[in-house]
Amino acid sequence: MSSPYNSGVAFLTIIWLLRFASSINVKPNILVFLTDDLDVELGGLEPLQKTRRWISDHGIHFSNSFVSTPICCPSRSSTLTGLYQHNTKVFNNSVGGNCNSQRWQNGPETRTYATELKKAGYVTMYSGKYLNTYGSKASGGLEHVPLGWDFWSGLVGNSKYYNYTLSINGKAEHHGDSYEEDYLTDVIGRKAQSFLSHFQSINSTSPFLMVLAPPAPHAPFTPAPQYANHFLNHTAPRTPAFNHKSTGSTQKHWLIQTQPQLMSPEVIATVDEAFRNRWRTLLSVDDLVDGVLKTLEQFDRLKDTFVVFTSDHGYHLGQFGLPLDKRQLYDTDLRVPLLVRGPGIHTNTTKGNVVTNIDLAPTLVELGTGHVPVDMDGTSFVQLMMTESNFITPPQPQHSFLVEYHGEDGAHGVDQQCKAITDQHMVECEAQFGCKCQDARNNTFSCVRTFSQSEDTVYCHFQDDAGFIEMYNLKQDPFQLHNIASGMTPEVKSIYEEKIQILKECHGRDECFQA
Ligand SMILES: *[C@@H]1O[C@H](CO)[C@@H](O)[C@H](O)[C@H]1NC(C)=O
Ligand SMILES: *[C@@H]1O[C@H](CO)[C@@H](O)[C@H](O)[C@H]1NC(C)=O
Ligand SMILES: *[C@@H]1O[C@H](CO)[C@@H](O)[C@H](O)[C@H]1NC(C)=O
Ligand SMILES: *[C@@H]1O[C@H](CO)[C@@H](O)[C@H](O)[C@H]1NC(C)=O
Ligand SMILES: *[C@@H]1O[C@H](CO)[C@@H](O)[C@H](O)[C@H]1NC(C)=O
Ligand SMILES: *[C@@H]1O[C@H](CO)[C@@H](O)[C@H](O)[C@H]1NC(C)=O
Repeated sequence: MSSPYNSGVAFLTIIWLLRFASSINVKPNILVFLTDDLDVELGGLEPLQKTRRWISDHGIHFSNSFVSTPICCPSRSSTLTGLYQHNTKVFNNSVGGNCNSQRWQNGPETRTYATELKKAGYVTMYSGKYLNTYGSKASGGLEHVPLGWDFWSGLVGNSKYYNYTLSINGKAEHHGDSYEEDYLTDVIGRKAQSFLSHFQSINSTSPFLMVLAPPAPHAPFTPAPQYANHFLNHTAPRTPAFNHKSTGSTQKHWLIQTQPQLMSPEVIATVDEAFRNRWRTLLSVDDLVDGVLKTLEQFDRLKDTFVVFTSDHGYHLGQFGLPLDKRQLYDTDLRVPLLVRGPGIHTNTTKGNVVTNIDLAPTLVELGTGHVPVDMDGTSFVQLMMTESNFITPPQPQHSFLVEYHGEDGAHGVDQQCKAITDQHMVECEAQFGCKCQDARNNTFSCVRTFSQSEDTVYCHFQDDAGFIEMYNLKQDPFQLHNIASGMTPEVKSIYEEKIQILKECHGRDECFQA
């Protein structure tokens, strides 16, 4: 199949472009909120009431939105470029795994949605967390301002709420721990406000691209003081997978079977507190979205602005006895919120169509330039947002996508208190979480997720000594309790193996879009 869309849809696009062009006569502004570790499965959108009111009540809620890799730096790199991991070659959160490496800076970073929109006349602004190793010596320091950005205030290193440094167009701005001056989510809001005021005061007729990337709800989950006592009665959702022990023929990969297999009451209490603190940090994100959208409305620019709200990947809290993290092949970690509003698109609509993070870059480029870059692996979903339809749009159109993950070792290591764990290839083991290790070098897998009218499955193949396979039928088993791989015939396995192989070698939209 050479193109995922037929000419009828192209015709609709032309109608829309004409309607759009005549109604506002300028290119739309684009505003993206990119949160850090925000799940959708565990109710991550619930505390974001103002966000939902501003965005999805006036736009689209994508109820089947996924990432193609469940870890920060690789996922953020894919979101920026519209490329799968095998094409960004960003394998983990370290410079050695290409996170913000010279090779990334000289390669994929030279062609992102920002570089394309800037070429098309956009004034571009980025504020907040970028890539985990941004600003490190080994990757050119904070003097390196990624191509494509006119106004840059990137966070040095990984998410923090206090005591951090921003690169302001290549110069350091240090922040301490005063709530009023330094709380990062609020600082990002102030950078956004001053960008918009500047824009308004020079009476700019250029469109803008603004990306705001708050640290929330990533660890260390530090809430703003006014929110520190919210949600006192909340606990992490007890989904059917919460502290569920995998056994027998339906068991999961080896890491999940390592001791302790279940969480103790003390660990559960720590997980519940993390859950509450995550939600508390989200209340500041809700204020950020509210503040920026109010200002856009005041400046009469909201009607010409596409607003996207999403996350770099999901999160789990207690599922299958894993206390809290990402890096797993389950929907908790792969599903992300995706809310979009903008001129000409549906209001107050839920769409069940499958979209992934690699589809975002081509979508933003199409919105800003009218052209879809075919060398990006993702597929623009602009037409999907413009196509007339009812509030809820089942059934799923056919779509398969690839998930790639490379297990980490070494960098974060084992807590001194976890003396029983001496294996250098196991990491993310902390005493406060019962020393359950949550990643390892051989926690490396590829999956194909297949959606059609009759199917919703995920098939994953580990690169470990066992060549372990997990397969779930999500239509019957939405919480992924039963690994059905052992009951699959070799013939059926080979169908999925072949799909994975084709996807792992794909370059560009036409090869990577698999119906
Ligand atoms: C910030 O750094 C100061 C000085 O090192 C330290 O006293 C303070 O506890 C830190 N605050 C936070 C929230 O990490
Ligand atoms: C801003 O632009 C509008 C429309 O082009 C124009 O009428 C107005 O005088 C301009 N204001 C300033 C302060 O330049
Ligand atoms: C929390 O639960 C307690 C006991 O059920 C109740 O008295 C209290 O009002 C609840 N607090 C909130 C904020 O809901
Ligand atoms: C959105 O739709 C729901 C039901 O489809 C309706 O109850 C609600 O009032 C709508 N909200 C807005 C802002 O239109
Ligand atoms: C990241 O990936 C690189 C390249 O595969 C590898 O050498 C390095 O050890 C990895 N880092 C971690 C922390 O696993
Ligand atoms: C995976 O790696 C761990 C840690 O090095 C090792 O103990 C385990 O046997 C390996 N398992 C498989 C299935 O490869």
